Amino acid sequence: MTHIDVLNELAKRRGFFFSANDSYGGLAGFYAYGPMGAALKSNIENSWRTKFVIGEGHFEISTPTISPSPVFKASGHLDGFDDLLISCSTCEISYRADHLLESQHTLLESPDVSVKEFKKLLSKYSLTCPSCKNTLDDSTLQEFNLMFATKVGPGSQTPGYLRPETAQGIFVEFPRLSDYARGKLPFGVAQIGTSYRNEISPRKGLTRLREFTQAELELFIHPTDLGPEINPTTTKLPLYSVSQQESNGNIEFVTPTEAIDQNIIENRWLAYYLELSANWYDSIGIDLTRFRYRQHMPNELAHYASDCWDAEVEIDGDWIEITGFAHRGNYDLSKHNTHSSADFTMFIPLDEPQEKLQTNLNPDMGYFGPTFGKLTPEILSKIDEMASEDSTIFDSPELSVEIDGTTHSILSECLHPTTEKVTVTGEHILPHVIEPSFGIDRIIYSILAHTFHEDIVDGEARSLLSLPSSISPIFVGVFPLLTRDDLDVVAQDIASNLRTSGLSVLYDESGSIGKRYRRQDEVGTPFCVTVDHQYFEDQTVTLRERNSALQIRVDVDSLSALLENLRNGSSAFFDL
Ligand code: ATP
Ligand code: GLY
Repeated sequence: MTHIDVLNELAKRRGFFFSANDSYGGLAGFYAYGPMGAALKSNIENSWRTKFVIGEGHFEISTPTISPSPVFKASGHLDGFDDLLISCSTCEISYRADHLLESQHTLLESPDVSVKEFKKLLSKYSLTCPSCKNTLDDSTLQEFNLMFATKVGPGSQTPGYLRPETAQGIFVEFPRLSDYARGKLPFGVAQIGTSYRNEISPRKGLTRLREFTQAELELFIHPTDLGPEINPTTTKLPLYSVSQQESNGNIEFVTPTEAIDQNIIENRWLAYYLELSANWYDSIGIDLTRFRYRQHMPNELAHYASDCWDAEVEIDGDWIEITGFAHRGNYDLSKHNTHSSADFTMFIPLDEPQEKLQTNLNPDMGYFGPTFGKLTPEILSKIDEMASEDSTIFDSPELSVEIDGTTHSILSECLHPTTEKVTVTGEHILPHVIEPSFGIDRIIYSILAHTFHEDIVDGEARSLLSLPSSISPIFVGVFPLLTRDDLDVVAQDIASNLRTSGLSVLYDESGSIGKRYRRQDEVGTPFCVTVDHQYFEDQTVTLRERNSALQIRVDVDSLSALLENLRNGSSAFFDL
């Protein structure tokens, strides 16, 4: 068995995670968290909340997981959130075509390949069905949208979709959220919740699920905001930039300030979040020697992003993305501004009122309607935006406007712009967005993979999860050495007192004491307390630390305060 097989077996046996609905044969891509996993997940989510929401002074909201289809038409997910699917006509199994090509032949230059381009590749490289080994036929190749469709309500059955990212719930509510922020930028809105993607081939435990949890932060900034001054620190970020990837180079270890000064990271907000997140990953048990930030190649960027860095961890020789840090520009807000009836702009007052020449468009709808149809409002709003930045754009006979990657040519003479002098007290802007998007399930899987060890203690093999105390599902195990002489009564009393003081406690009296320690080591419990006969002489118990298996004697009266200090980090076991 490989290291990861042993971990998966442990996860199932000890109640971290297991495939859901097994009694009915299961359904690929859906996992359940057992008691240990659910506690670990909740601790990780709370730790994220403390760091990225409370610690940064942002809001958290909670929005529905189903939205009507116009939301996803506007966001671009209906038209562009596809993977290429190829099916085996013999055994009828479907695969992600890009993954198959990459595992059987060559790395794709861009993941965003059309059916036509992929067919050309298939004339050069033939693909074999991993299951029945037949050659796959390109006639089954198709774009497959990853969203789950649903119908809402009886009667008209309004079409809706399960959200593929929690972010859209935040963007859609922006007009209200900006009011709560009292019109001040920057401000951040976070959401932790379930997202759904109908992945073609769910695999590798928790890493490619069809239902998963994201913790996303959308930081709304002024378009001219290049980010905060970054205080010089000694934190070295492992960066794998576009230029290093192009030259088959190496990961560069640089501080955030060096990354900015050397133009490795352009936007200071991105550098800021990469540093904040590296510190957080370290605190929750990700091994930073098996970790990197990889910048997206230009042809790899999502439809909404102008720059993106992925946090990736190494597991069993593969690099797995656990978080994406994207600069989304004003893509989403401008889309919802055009497609919905609400105003997604923010009014930013100027320090002093200013006289300004304002351009008003008087478009010739006899030209725009037949030529651009439904795209007309979006095109006109883009031209408005361009004119506010440069009033000379109408001097050329044609204007180029890009919508969703397509460039449209507009006859300037059909716009009939007029100008007027106005006093401006502020401006309506569409904020830009910096988005750290964390996948909680992949983070859980990575932590388990990085903290799982096997060693020998007291001449016996043990499995160990060296989870940080702040996230371990159980904080302390309490055991009586024997279930007689009132040792069990005292131990139960101690367990109950520790629970009252808010600690997560497991009481265990079955099996040898060595077995009980091993059971807790295996689920990552950092401390165990054992009550033995010495308690009746001096009211002390033993306190054992997981990684070292060392024990000290502690006064029962001070046990609760001591454990609390160990949990919040104000004491360290080895200083005691
Ligand atoms: P991939 O390329 O691996 O499919 P992605 O680029 O589509 O990932 P994003 O769209 O950036 O991922 O999603 C943000 C985060 O959500 C990811 O970093 C990941 O942690 C998580 N995530 C995305 N898809 C899944 C999935 N199918 N199962 C579990 N987590 C996921
Ligand atoms: N919100 C980023 C993503 O899920 O793709």
